[in-house]
Amino acid sequence: MVALVRPDMLWLPAYRAALAQGWSPDNLRPAAAGELLAASAADPADFLVGLDDPAPEGRTVTLPDGSRVPRLPSLSRWIIADGFVGQISLRWQPGGDALPPYVLGHIGYGVVPWARRRGHAGAALGLILPEARAQGLTRVELTTEPDNIGSIRVIEKNGGRLVERFTRGPQYGQTPALRFVIAL
Ligand SMILES: CC(C)(COP(=O)(O)OP(=O)(O)OC[C@H]1O[C@@H](n2cnc3c(N)ncnc32)[C@H](O)[C@@H]1OP(=O)(O)O)[C@@H](O)C(=O)NCCC(=O)NCCS
Repeated sequence: MVALVRPDMLWLPAYRAALAQGWSPDNLRPAAAGELLAASAADPADFLVGLDDPAPEGRTVTLPDGSRVPRLPSLSRWIIADGFVGQISLRWQPGGDALPPYVLGHIGYGVVPWARRRGHAGAALGLILPEARAQGLTRVELTTEPDNIGSIRVIEKNGGRLVERFTRGPQYGQTPALRFVIAL
């Protein structure tokens, strides 16, 4: 049984324990784990608010090349199965399905290494799609590494279809990627 929970004080210690073991919810920027550990220790309440951020008002995010760009409205949910097993996040641009070129998809997710291959990511993606619909989206884009078989299966199991192979922008080292779309 998989559930998505809004990040809260109850699950914060388990989330921090996963970070301390080297897991990072940002698979393109593993160094984020240390930053997240520091931020969640410095001001836990503010940290939790930042994970549920539909109105970011001037806040920024850091891309893999270190550049900072405006943060889109977003929300993150912790994936709970047999304890904390990962995180899934949704971001969107108000008023439509389009995304700025520096945003690699509406949805990103990661499962801790010790709980993979048990269906958690597939279930979590299915559970967040109604939240995307509730934000007014009619389709969501997801991008993966071309060889990320697990992630590709997760997307396909949730109705995703491959729309293109493309090259990520310079902020991401111009690496190849696949773009999928799930119609809502
Ligand atoms: C990709 C990832 C999220 C998958 O999480 P998961 O909980 O293990 O995925 P699931 O158990 O829901 O797997 C869904 C399907 O993919 C398959 N799968 C998962 N990982 C796989 C792998 N490494 N190789 C082959 N198949 C894999 C599963 O067998 C399952 O297929 P099935 O339903 O036909 O049996 C996880 O490996 C991860 O966190 N990786 C690092 C971060 C990442 O890549 N995030 C995605 C960025 S786009």
